[in-house]
Amino acid sequence: MNRRQFIGGSAVVALNLAALPDALAAIAGHGGTPQETKDNEHFWFQVQRAFTVDRSIINLNSGGVSPSPAVVHDALKRHLDLSNAGPSYFMWRVLEPQRETARTRLARPFGADPEEIAITRNASEGLQTCQFGFDLKAGDEVLCTDQDYGRMITTFKQRARREGIVLKTFPVPVPCDDPSAIVTGYQKNITPKTKLILMSHVINLTGLILPVREVVALARTHVIPVIVDGAHGFAHFPFKHADLDCDYYATSLHKWLFAPVGCGMLYVRKSLIPGLWPLMAADEKQTADIRKFEEIGTHPAANALAISEAVTFHEGLGAERKAERLRYLRDRWVTRLSKLDRVKILSSLKPGMGYGVATFAVDGIDAGKLCEHLWEKRRIVATPIDHPDVKGVRVSPSVWTQREELDLFCDAVESAVRNGLK
Ligand SMILES: Cc1ncc(COP(=O)(O)O)c(C=O)c1O
Repeated sequence: MNRRQFIGGSAVVALNLAALPDALAAIAGHGGTPQETKDNEHFWFQVQRAFTVDRSIINLNSGGVSPSPAVVHDALKRHLDLSNAGPSYFMWRVLEPQRETARTRLARPFGADPEEIAITRNASEGLQTCQFGFDLKAGDEVLCTDQDYGRMITTFKQRARREGIVLKTFPVPVPCDDPSAIVTGYQKNITPKTKLILMSHVINLTGLILPVREVVALARTHVIPVIVDGAHGFAHFPFKHADLDCDYYATSLHKWLFAPVGCGMLYVRKSLIPGLWPLMAADEKQTADIRKFEEIGTHPAANALAISEAVTFHEGLGAERKAERLRYLRDRWVTRLSKLDRVKILSSLKPGMGYGVATFAVDGIDAGKLCEHLWEKRRIVATPIDHPDVKGVRVSPSVWTQREELDLFCDAVESAVRNGLK
């Protein structure tokens, strides 16, 4: 039997994988290239089975937060149970030291030294560590786009109210097919007063991937630190730290890595750790230790430990295979909805400028009302985007999404466009 026959024959797949636990079975039966696997529904059925998602709803908001595979969720529960058997012993003495394994596991797919990886509770915590961690004085400028994440803009606005710093933002074209427009945007808005830059790796409103490496290189010539908001970047599509060459990168792990809700990662280049203040105070001895960013008081050990299972699942599935599937799913619904006269795709479809997340608008139908309709009439979860630059519906399926679910979503939008929100 050749590889293709093995993957293609569902009965054979079922037979061979029957002896394995579900989640392992899901990732063990592959062997095709990402291109060969992207539309092999036998393979993706096994991956879908590794999750316990509720199929009585159609969840197209994996970008907000993703369910974890059962193997990850089981690990979380196992660690929680052990912790609860005697927290001061099991949580602090047994489980907490195992956090170091999770740190090491995370460092590999990101391509960094474990001593540069802090485990946080989400992207917001890592980003705010950086946003608050630099000393700034009144009049100093911080720069980002007006499509950066709302909470991160709010963070700078609070510093503006409290300390008198100045927040400068610039617009990003919608859709944006030209990465150099972003670099030019930063270039034009850097002034002698610019002391800090924030940039999204992926803009949450449209799924647009920004040219991080180029902006970091530009900022370096002006000696300006760049905080990269990688909430939607890490484990969504393949890249390594060396591809970005950034100094600060914060991400959520409960979006695309499928770790438990409440997991994030902060990367800080080793030589720069001493120069960044932690969000919660740490001892002076920890000045050069990445763990100073984890001094958050008593917290569950379970979430962080289950990250190791999430990394195992991600690596078993394969970053390239996952990304190709996400792009395939996006292209499937985008191709179908683009045929409708009144539908406009607000996301770039150019290679390298997006993967699983895209946003569309329907001329004459309010995006919020359309999302309400999809939920009320069809139990479909999609995300309304109401931003001055982007008004539309964001759709983010994942590896656990069935192709048929996407087709039902397209049926529902087609019907809404033709017949109105009845
Ligand atoms: C671009 C971006 N940055 C930051 C965040 C914050 O992530 P979290 O809520 O996991 O802290 C999000 C969440 O959706 C996001 O999309």
